[in-house]
Amino acid sequence: MPSLPLLPNSAPFRPEEIAALNGVITKTSPEQRAWLSGFLAGFQAATGSAQGVPAPAQAPARKVPLLILFATESGNAETLAASVRKAAQKMGFAPRVADVGTITVAEAAKAENLLMIASTWGEGDPPQRAADFYQAILAPGAPRFDKTRFSVLALGDRAYVNFCSTGHVFDERFAALGGKRLAPVVECDVDYAAPAKAWIASTLDLLKKETESEAGTDEGAVIHVDFARSVAAAPVDAEEDDDAEPRFTRENPFEAEIRELVNLNGTGSSAETWHVEVSLEGSGLVHKPGDALGIVPSNDPTLVEDMLTLTGLSGDDAVRQALTEAQDITTVTRPQIEAYAKLTDSNQLRALAADPDALREWLPGRHVIDLLEAAPMQLDAATLTSLLRPLPGRLYSIASAWAYAEDEAHLLVSAVRYETHGRMRSGVASVDIAERRRAGDPLKVYLKPNPHFRLPSDPDRAVIMIGPGTGVAPFRAFMQERETTGATGRNWLFFGNRHFTHDFLYQLEWQDWKASGLLTRIDTAFSRDQREKIYVQHRIWEERQELFRWIEEGAAIYVCGDANAMAKDVNHALVRVIADQAGFDETAAAARLDTLRRDGRYLRDVY
Ligand SMILES: Cc1cc2nc3c(=O)[nH]c(=O)nc-3n(C[C@H](O)[C@H](O)[C@H](O)COP(=O)(O)OP(=O)(O)OC[C@H]3O[C@@H](n4cnc5c(N)ncnc54)[C@H](O)[C@@H]3O)c2cc1C
Ligand SMILES: Cc1cc2nc3c(=O)[nH]c(=O)nc-3n(C[C@H](O)[C@H](O)[C@H](O)COP(=O)(O)O)c2cc1C
Repeated sequence: MPSLPLLPNSAPFRPEEIAALNGVITKTSPEQRAWLSGFLAGFQAATGSAQGVPAPAQAPARKVPLLILFATESGNAETLAASVRKAAQKMGFAPRVADVGTITVAEAAKAENLLMIASTWGEGDPPQRAADFYQAILAPGAPRFDKTRFSVLALGDRAYVNFCSTGHVFDERFAALGGKRLAPVVECDVDYAAPAKAWIASTLDLLKKETESEAGTDEGAVIHVDFARSVAAAPVDAEEDDDAEPRFTRENPFEAEIRELVNLNGTGSSAETWHVEVSLEGSGLVHKPGDALGIVPSNDPTLVEDMLTLTGLSGDDAVRQALTEAQDITTVTRPQIEAYAKLTDSNQLRALAADPDALREWLPGRHVIDLLEAAPMQLDAATLTSLLRPLPGRLYSIASAWAYAEDEAHLLVSAVRYETHGRMRSGVASVDIAERRRAGDPLKVYLKPNPHFRLPSDPDRAVIMIGPGTGVAPFRAFMQERETTGATGRNWLFFGNRHFTHDFLYQLEWQDWKASGLLTRIDTAFSRDQREKIYVQHRIWEERQELFRWIEEGAAIYVCGDANAMAKDVNHALVRVIADQAGFDETAAAARLDTLRRDGRYLRDVY
């Protein structure tokens, strides 16, 4: 425990009084000292300061404790939590930020003032690290929040059916457990910056008014609490817990240059995966293995022309520019259908917007053009653009290490193409890269750090990397980093794709690393090279004995790539491996895997 400061000999007391006061002070608890300081301030105010006696230095203003919780996957909620902390500090609160992955519900329930920012993932799921907290707060007998005032900011994407559902669940649960809702939950779509800023300002303002009026009617009710002691909220990552505003964002991207663009799939492959080298020269951006690069794409000009023709706006270059560069012209959402139904007075669209089952059936694979075609109408430019949301950026794991390819970020972009409802569709960003960009072209980018998907800080620790398809991208950065820094930990890659001959991404590099000994093991699963489909989860199961040995010896497991099928199948395979090798049932094995996750030894970056 740090030693308490004592009264100095220069204090305006006799030496024996200084000794007596020091004797009392050193035995006090924090609560007694807080009480004493309030008592003395009140005493002084009541008696007035004696003439000629210098006024004591003003006691520090009492600060209202504020717990700011965030539940995040890709860092947006975490960045916003840092903004809340900054604003709260300026307003005189004593804020403390905590990742819900590092705090229990019981600890959170002690907070008198609680602001939460939560994103939604998967199909309406909480972020991975929030899973324990989410389950615990939903459990019967969860701690009560009777003393807590709260407000929730929900992050999401209207393209998903379960829009902002995690934020809503937290909001409803805090209220059901006795918490006092300061303001209704605020939902944010992908362009969350403005609504989040407004929520921060209005919620802190409300909180300030409430706590001030409480202090005014019941002087002394608001006491300074040392939150570091009352809530065991570990900093997110001491090394990276940095409040600096990001230099470039989706709204203010860096104009980079594409240095190289190569399709890595051989001719004859059904897939198209582009290796993209982006120059970051002059940006000042420095990335770490595990980080992603955001791209602000341009829309497909053919689709833009189709929409302009359909709405009678072909002659309007300003709207053409807006539809190409600034608006989301693909995602279609219920509010858009409602708005367009009203505009066109279409009963068919009105009925669709009002029927959740019909919507669930209609939305998949449909874009804004399908909505316009359902009730064609001539529009003016302002009306068309008001129907559309801003064009969101797309993230790509950086496939190169700064230490290896300074001033560059390499990406691995899989071109998304499919046919639905009689129309060929193209992924906005991936096909922009695949079809419309060339080496030397500009590309608008921003950095998206991912402090939760880092190589172990111990360079001797072994890593198991499971990255089929484009999931292999960050592992190339991991290998470059470990090679450049001379890390001695063992490295094991599980890679999968369709065919060995066409689809073995970065094959030569993996083979070189295997030959040099940097890559200790590589196991591949080429799903379509034989009659029965083989995926990485099958290789994981086949290699279970050795895999379990690595885990027991301290290896960290990383999974990157497809969230819908692969990450779930791999998770199940890992549970089965642990159950089989440790002699556990699947529940105990899942708990063991959960412990690895909590210990930072099972990390996933899935999308
Ligand atoms: C942290 C992170 C890292 C990522 N890293 C990478 C990476 O390294 N490499 C990479 O390629 N991608 C990566 N992604 C995914 C990437 O951000 C984009 O989502 C992806 O490239 C698709 O974007 P797009 O603009 O091309 O397609 P969009 O225009 O966004 O279209 C994709 C959407 O089309 C729909 N769709 C797709 N196929 C079908 C189908 N068959 N039928 C019906 N609907 C369909 C789905 O709704 C899908 O969400 C990452 C994502 C995240 C969050
Ligand atoms: C794979 C994936 C799944 C998502 N699922 C949902 C969803 O079901 N509902 C939703 O509202 N948003 C969904 N989102 C959008 C995120 O919630 C949104 O991008 C949010 O800003 C992420 O915040 P975070 O970085 O704090 O995790 C999804 C995003 C991705 C990439």
